[in-house]
Parts: sequence; structure tokens; C-alpha cells
Amino acid sequence: MKKVRKAVIPVAGLGTRFLPATKAQPKEMLTVIDKPIIQYIVEEAVAAGIEQIIFVTSSTKRAIEDHFDRNFELEYRLRQKKKTAEMKDILRISDMAKFVYVRQKTPKGLGHAIYTAKDVVGDEPFAVMSGDDIIDARVPAIKQLIQVYDKYQDIVVGVTQVPKKETSKYGIVDPIYIDDKTSEIKKIIEKPKVEKAPSRLAVTGRYVLTPEIFNILGKGKKGAGGEIQLTDAMAEHIRKRAGYACTYSGDYYDCGNKLEFIKATINYAVKRKEFRGPLKRYLKKI
Ligand code: G1P
Repeated sequence: MKKVRKAVIPVAGLGTRFLPATKAQPKEMLTVIDKPIIQYIVEEAVAAGIEQIIFVTSSTKRAIEDHFDRNFELEYRLRQKKKTAEMKDILRISDMAKFVYVRQKTPKGLGHAIYTAKDVVGDEPFAVMSGDDIIDARVPAIKQLIQVYDKYQDIVVGVTQVPKKETSKYGIVDPIYIDDKTSEIKKIIEKPKVEKAPSRLAVTGRYVLTPEIFNILGKGKKGAGGEIQLTDAMAEHIRKRAGYACTYSGDYYDCGNKLEFIKATINYAVKRKEFRGPLKRYLKKI
């Protein structure tokens, strides 16, 4: 049985929902307190045993490469000022995993972004983690998916319940429940009309896929929005083989959405001793 060792993180999108903040910086580098969104996601992957992170980038995303690399000038200055804790933290970031970067030259959709990583992934199962979806969980969400993969040996998507009226924003699964957390997927649909959504279980940026998916993505079939959709490729895979949904335990924050981003910030802030008291008092006051 092959282990899930690699994670593909697509970060090529323009981030227009967060303008003007994203005019000159990647949306994935927006900070939730003092860490960029993307670092939360990489830390989740590493905590789940992922060894190699494959970023699918585009021309405006160099800050992400710099963030996960060494910064000798900064290290030199921190050493001079004897800021050892900061120094340790900075060094840890570049040592967390092996980082690989591939470019998506044209924005043809999520499915196309994943296909761009085909040669680096090779012939093994791999995780896909969206670059702006943070999931705060005791057991890393992607680890929960990997556990389902290890058991059933086929593709897995992470899902969570969303309000009915929001189903048209997501990939939605039609589940056959195996237990309260795991289901076999009967059908999966990308951004269905609300009245056509087969359930309220939405795909939220976590997947475990097998290399067979590349054969389907390679056909370049366009779906919703004229883009090559990962959801459509999974739907085809499931028709031929099988696929599973994991209702992970954890709180999902779509950090490409401004309100969700604010909620993520407050969530992580009240968890930190230094902020909890003053922040709660301030929120009460306003
Ligand atoms: C993508 C996927 C969709 C998923 C969503 C949230 O859509 O295509 O299936 O539900 O991410 O992770 P996007 O938000 O990029 O339009």
C-alpha cells in the first residue's frame, strides 16, 4: 500500500474577491494574526505526515516561495540582536517539508492546476489542499481524510454541512452513509443550482486523490464556468470506480471570503492566552 506523502496546493488564482489587499500580494499571504493563511495549511499537511509540498503557482506568487525559503539577511540580523525565539521560528518554516513549485501558465480552472503537478506527483496517491481554506481541527483535517483513504484505497473528499442556500457555491456530494463520518459518494456535482443540490455536504478544499485522476484531467474537458473542474474529473472517476466523503471534525474557514477571514482571525486570537481576555472585553464593548 502506497502512503500519501505529497500534497498539491494550488495557489495560482488572482484573489479578486479580496481586492485591493491582493493587488500586489498573493491572497494566500494575508495574515491571520501573525501567520500567512498558507502557513496554516502547510502546517496542517506536515502534522498529517506529508513530506513534500507541491505549490501550483503563477507569476504574482513569488512571496510564497520566499516565505518557505531561508532569508539570510533576516537571520543575520536576528542573530545579532539575539532574538533566538524568532530565529528558531523563522528557520522552522523553511525546514518543515520539501517545497516544489510548478507554474500554471494559464488560468484554466482547479482541475487544470492539479494536472500541472502530474509529473511531480508521479505514480502515488496524493493530497490536494486549497490554498485559502483553513480548517481548525484537533486531528488535522487532511489526516482524517488520509485515514479514510488508507481504509478504502480510493479517492476521498473532505466535506462539511453548509446552509442549503449556499450549496451553489460548492462541489456537493450525494452520500451513501457508511458511518456518521464516512460515506460512499453516489454522485458529486460542481456548484449545482440550490434546488438541484443532492445534499448540504459541501467540498471544502481537502482531497486525497490517486494518479488515475490525471488520465481524466488530461482530456481537458470543460465544465462549470468554462473551466476544467476537479469535481467533474472526480465524478467520472467515481462512475468507473469509487469515491468517499469524509465529514471531518473541525471548523472550516473560507479565507478567500472577507467575513470568514475575520472569523478565522477571531477564532485563532481567542485561543491565544495573550489576546483572549482583552479581545473578549473589546468585542463586548463594541
Ligand atoms: C472550488 C471547488 C469546489 C469547492 C470549493 C471550496 O471552487 O471547485 O468544488 O467546493 O473550491 O473548496 P472555487 O471556490 O475555487 O470556485
